[in-house]
Amino acid sequence: MVNYQHNANLQAFNTLAIPATAHCLVSVNSIDALEQALQKKAKQYKTILVIGSGSNIVLPDTFDGLVIHMAMQGRTVEQETKDSVTLSLAAGENWHDAVMWAAKNSWYGIENLALIPGTVGAAPIQNIGAYGVELKECFLYLEAMNIETGELKKFTHKDCEFGYRESIFKQALKNQWVITRVVLKLSKLPILHLDYPPLEKALESIAQDKLTPLKIAEAIIAIRQSKLPDPSVLPNAGSFFKNPIITNEKFQTLHKDYPMIAAYPVGESHTKIAAGWLLEQDGWKGRLIGGVGMHKQQALVLTNPNQLPAKNILDFTSLIKISIFEKFSIALEIEPTIVGSYSSPIQ
Ligand code: EPU
Repeated sequence: MVNYQHNANLQAFNTLAIPATAHCLVSVNSIDALEQALQKKAKQYKTILVIGSGSNIVLPDTFDGLVIHMAMQGRTVEQETKDSVTLSLAAGENWHDAVMWAAKNSWYGIENLALIPGTVGAAPIQNIGAYGVELKECFLYLEAMNIETGELKKFTHKDCEFGYRESIFKQALKNQWVITRVVLKLSKLPILHLDYPPLEKALESIAQDKLTPLKIAEAIIAIRQSKLPDPSVLPNAGSFFKNPIITNEKFQTLHKDYPMIAAYPVGESHTKIAAGWLLEQDGWKGRLIGGVGMHKQQALVLTNPNQLPAKNILDFTSLIKISIFEKFSIALEIEPTIVGSYSSPIQ
């Protein structure tokens, strides 16, 4: 049974707590229900928005179309060998619950991605990543339904064109497919990613051969909880800007003026700059303007304590982008998906 809700309130469906409404909202918990919703869209609505738990979106005041909330559940072991397991995860599964399931079964690969808010189906779209690991490292394939034709298709690792917070679903295939299921290959052998300094420090008292995915996930949870605000307490969408990637030449110039700049090499020719560092140096950490602010413990996380609309949030980020560009000649890029059109009064 597919239940359509008209003039639906979306405030509880986005972690920034933006007071948005949609002409129609439907929760789907099966492939059949998704197909029915897409048929309804074709007959009655021009636009569609697919959401998981709304942890990486900026919604407009009114969405003039059909919102499909992915609620499909299910986790199964598709294949198992002596050294690995292949897991099939339905799109509506909570990402963190899937991580903890794997960790408790001692399967290695996604433990560093514990506590990332969001659903499994949203994870490949921006190739979620944290603490030295990206989803693409254990991703095998996904299944998705075409929004126009209802065709179900497999996308391999190569098809997805993963990059830093990027995939083909944010680029050439944007708004064309709904991810229904994600298949990951995890290892039963200990493959650890402990290079991230705070993680290494948190685990230094445990001998390497005693480390389990569960212990690593618990350390990650503690690190995240110490500096990232819980969206149910303080509305936010995690990092609001991407860490900019610049050429080594440009980095050398910046480094002369700012020898303490936080940066990491990307391949031979580029350098990734910690946007949180740029924001902190420019005075944005903990700063609130017009009711919207950057978090006091992590300058990269925008918070919306007063549950204001997208315009207030994006006016604030326009000020930040201008200020960062003037100081460092770096154009910051917004990380969450902005739904609808927005025009800034100051650009
Ligand atoms: N920094 C500051 N001030 C700040 C924040 C950061 O100076 O207020 C500097 C520090 O030097 C720090 C460095 O930036 O060492 C990196 O900071 P952090 O380790 O907190 O990571 P990040 O680069 O700010 C990225 C991801 C996070 C992910 C962490 C951990 C992006 C856009 N963000 O943040 O992902 O959890 O690394 O791996 O890549 C998210 O995408 O929503 C998210 C939270």
